[in-house]
Amino acid sequence: MISPQEAPQRIAELSDKINHYNQRYYQENISEISDYEFDKLLEELISLETQYPHLRQPDSPSQRVGGAVTKNFPTVKHRYPMLSLGNTYSTEELLDFDKRLKKLLGQTQELTYCCELKFDGVSLSLTYEKGLLVRAVTRGDGVQGDDITANAKTIRSIPLRIEAPDLPEVFEVRGEVFMPLEVFEALNQQRAAEGKELYANPRNTASGSLKMQDAAEVAKRKLDMYAYFLLGDNLPFQTHSEAVAALVRWGFPVSPTYKVCEGIAQVQAYLDHWELERLKLPVDTDGAVIKVNSFDQQQELGFTSKSPRWAIAYKYKAQDAATQLLSISYQVGRTGAVTPVAELAPVQLAGTTVKRASLHNADEIARLDLHEGDHVFVEKGGEIIPKVTRVSLALRAPNAKPIRFINQCPACQTELVRREGEAQHFCPNEKGCPPQITGRIEHFIHRKAMDIDSLGSETIELLFEKGLVRNVADLYTLQYDQLIGLERFADRSVRKLLEGIEQSKAVAFERVLFGLGIRHVGETVARKLVAHFRTLEALAAADFEALVAVEDVGERIAHSVQAFLADPEQQALIARLKSYGLQFESQAQEPTKESTRLEGMTFVISGVFERFERDELKDKIEANGGKVASGVSKKTNYLLAGDKIGPAKLEKAQSLGVTILSEEAFLEMLNVL
Ligand code: IVH
Repeated sequence: MISPQEAPQRIAELSDKINHYNQRYYQENISEISDYEFDKLLEELISLETQYPHLRQPDSPSQRVGGAVTKNFPTVKHRYPMLSLGNTYSTEELLDFDKRLKKLLGQTQELTYCCELKFDGVSLSLTYEKGLLVRAVTRGDGVQGDDITANAKTIRSIPLRIEAPDLPEVFEVRGEVFMPLEVFEALNQQRAAEGKELYANPRNTASGSLKMQDAAEVAKRKLDMYAYFLLGDNLPFQTHSEAVAALVRWGFPVSPTYKVCEGIAQVQAYLDHWELERLKLPVDTDGAVIKVNSFDQQQELGFTSKSPRWAIAYKYKAQDAATQLLSISYQVGRTGAVTPVAELAPVQLAGTTVKRASLHNADEIARLDLHEGDHVFVEKGGEIIPKVTRVSLALRAPNAKPIRFINQCPACQTELVRREGEAQHFCPNEKGCPPQITGRIEHFIHRKAMDIDSLGSETIELLFEKGLVRNVADLYTLQYDQLIGLERFADRSVRKLLEGIEQSKAVAFERVLFGLGIRHVGETVARKLVAHFRTLEALAAADFEALVAVEDVGERIAHSVQAFLADPEQQALIARLKSYGLQFESQAQEPTKESTRLEGMTFVISGVFERFERDELKDKIEANGGKVASGVSKKTNYLLAGDKIGPAKLEKAQSLGVTILSEEAFLEMLNVL
């Protein structure tokens, strides 16, 4: 035992040692001691700090493995707002940018730019005082963000304390936090092995990870960061590249891909060089950022309301690759919808290996005029699931047969149906088709529904095969003895599984309702129905008029809800769930409104956004009294349009005279910029 008198010295000793080994390991790639010995030192430090919390230093190496749990991240106002950048997509636009700046500066001679790659992650602001990292804040709405300091400290490349002779007293560093592609792929492989839903892309995963409540979990995500911006009062630098060089000197992680370019021609050469080279990097990039290097010139050019005039983002075109169609497989979802998937010869695309691409439905196959063995082009536009964009007719074998959509369900051989006006084929065998049954259970346990993450799709399939579950209520009858000894099930995993199921009994009614998988009842509609009726009894007793009176509930949804709740089989299922203790009554207060600024306005959100996830935008609209609809119609007031917005939506909005809003314009409308 270490006495209270000895503790300070021992803590200092342990910290020094750990810092030393960390530095050797992370900066020089040398392991001086075994992982086991290292863990022992760390354990001792953590145990001492737990015993004597007042001795824990803000830059203790124990912070790298987490320990803090934050329920709600405090909101912090940014000292300097976090702006966004204008985008360009072509050489012409780039030349225009250069011309515009020369004109504004009243000069004809070439400008010096600093070019960097645009890393696809989440931006983070780090504040240092007297060399110590005191605060890490997410971008949020640009004006204020979440204080996630404990989580940021787990990112090993972020310095916790800096010692340098030329360090400003207070300064802020901005950079992009990302999940390295390798880490992302390993994480997804692990999730696949556990039968869990895969993460969509590294950026969203990094963003989600940064906001996890338990810093120890964040530490496991192995996030990394690149710094690209230094801010402070009276900094002793004349140019951006000098500031970046200082960041490097002070030990910040800076991607070595930046370059000072004399004149726009060199910028163009930089862009050309990195167009393909960037795909070899360990991180996703979607373009480059071109910054005027001189701070004097930056100051003269200034800012618009949203972004600096002295910088611009150049976005590369979506990557595509040629490969060959091997076969088509058909997936049956929980609603019976059958989706064709192209199985492809593996091909490298934008840093990942693509083996499959969704083909959506029979019409899409017809549109592509897809034939067996076709050579196809796949594209990934920063987004998640690659798509087949076209086929190469020149390479088609002369006797190749066109792809014919299947007639029977691949899982239960029932004849498929295609309803009037729908693009999708369906398997009508709702009650007996295995993927529909397991699909419904998977939907029920989904993160946004009952959130039972100790259960994955493979486990569900196994439980189904063994006859242990036939519907969602059966989950609540599972017993230890039935599970132990099943493939992959040991004591710990069985306990975890049962615990997860038990905990789900406390999940709020709106998520239970969503989890039941009533057709057309998504998360939002479930939330609205529960906010309106509050109990299942009231919902079941509601007549058609009462249902359609609820915001966002149309005739189609009302019919579907009524049919579901009138079905004796569903009633029996719900009665069972109730008897196991699930929530069928709302406990929540009405959500607090931020304002009524958007009252009476209906928005449609489409595309990918810079600052917010789509869900967050939706919440913002609703918190300010507006409505969000899924499709553009005459009732739509605004189309909130992000990057990669579908052209059909855009056209429809234009033809109906719907106002199209950018993310910035929307935030301005809310007065948060
Ligand atoms: S500079 C005032 N440099 O892109 C300009 N941003 O659209 C501050 N980003 O929010 C941004 N790589 O999340 C800058 N090398 C880079 C960047 C970069 C990625 C992100 C960042 C920012 C967004 C701007």
